[in-house]
Amino acid sequence: MAISAIKPAVRTNNITYAVRDIVVLANEVAKSGKEMLYLNIGDPNLYDFAPPKNMVEATYEAMLKNKNGYAPSSGIKSAVDAIAVEAEQKGIQNIQDIFVTTGASEAIEICLTALVNEGENVLTPTPGYPLYTAIQSKLQAYENPYYLDEANGWQPDIEDIKSKINDKTRAIILINPNNPTGSNCDTEILEQVVELAVKHNLVIFADEIYDKLLFDAKQHVSIAALNKDVSCVTFGGLSKNYMVPGFRIGWGIISGDKAVLKDYIEAINKILRARLSANHPEQYAIPVALGGDHSHLTEAMEKLHLRRDLTVEMMNAIDGISCVKPEGAFYAFPKLNIKNDNHFVSELIKSTGVVVVPGTGFGQVPGTSHIRIVFLPQYEVLEKAYKNIGTFYKEYVDKYGTAED
Ligand SMILES: Cc1ncc(COP(=O)(O)O)c(C=O)c1O
Repeated sequence: MAISAIKPAVRTNNITYAVRDIVVLANEVAKSGKEMLYLNIGDPNLYDFAPPKNMVEATYEAMLKNKNGYAPSSGIKSAVDAIAVEAEQKGIQNIQDIFVTTGASEAIEICLTALVNEGENVLTPTPGYPLYTAIQSKLQAYENPYYLDEANGWQPDIEDIKSKINDKTRAIILINPNNPTGSNCDTEILEQVVELAVKHNLVIFADEIYDKLLFDAKQHVSIAALNKDVSCVTFGGLSKNYMVPGFRIGWGIISGDKAVLKDYIEAINKILRARLSANHPEQYAIPVALGGDHSHLTEAMEKLHLRRDLTVEMMNAIDGISCVKPEGAFYAFPKLNIKNDNHFVSELIKSTGVVVVPGTGFGQVPGTSHIRIVFLPQYEVLEKAYKNIGTFYKEYVDKYGTAED
């Protein structure tokens, strides 16, 4: 019998995840014995950050008390209650449902799956977090990217959003603070997004997973808090604010008009029930985290503040690179005056061992090139990496030219 290759489903063709895809090359280079400087993974635990101890204790205690079975599909009551209290404190009214998931990633996947049919589209921030594009590929939705305006501190470009809405548009994603740019949305911009969502009956997917990681005394505004009737799912989780991405705990908060949301909420709950539950013992860390003193953040933000400033200063000092100052999260997205950031990053890794992610992996205005830097590593590591990038950048441009050449 002839053996033929197993054909994967077409829906997987366009699934990429630049953050991990680049690791294949980095691993190869590391094998050669080269010193590697990793500025590519948004996992605080790989660097000098740790979660509040009582979260780990609460999880361990839950395990000892044999909370090792399935949890309720929407999450344990004490966790859902704690999420509700925090959402109300942020001004979110008309909360219709809250559910705990295996990371915010699962909440995002479930909420998109419950909403979007083949051929429909979701306005997706560009640059933005690649999971959204990957899920939409899987759902065979067609991509509808809208741009963040680099010249305006990476704020969403409202005119671009307006021009991209069509009769198949079902939702708009807002990542605030943003990965990969570190921008924090201005309230006026959020208000304009709400207005468009109400006018066109769009669901707002508000990814606020970095909402406690803000610099310069900036305040985070939840878009759901601006209008009690707009249909909104706010995504949050423990991965970034509480530094336990390995717990895989996230959540969704649905707010808006009850009658409008009724069928959608039931569709989400059908999927939640079908997948049984999120990780159970780790859910006991949620009330402890949200109700805690958050002193771990003071320490973390002090370190991140210095690292953010170093990043902006050293990137902007390189002739041909410009970097918008991040206002939150732990990412910077400098612009490079080169032709192809995929090629640049491959050569950078091979030549210097510095690992960053090419801008292409997050989407960007065609003809522009960027790199995403994670500034979680220690100050000295960043300093060394940026010196290497500076030296390499000059050699690279001498050899391959600038974007204009
Ligand atoms: C914007 C954004 N949303 C969601 C996630 C995934 O979060 P979780 O670990 O809770 O699945 C990430 C992870 O990097 C992210 O950057």
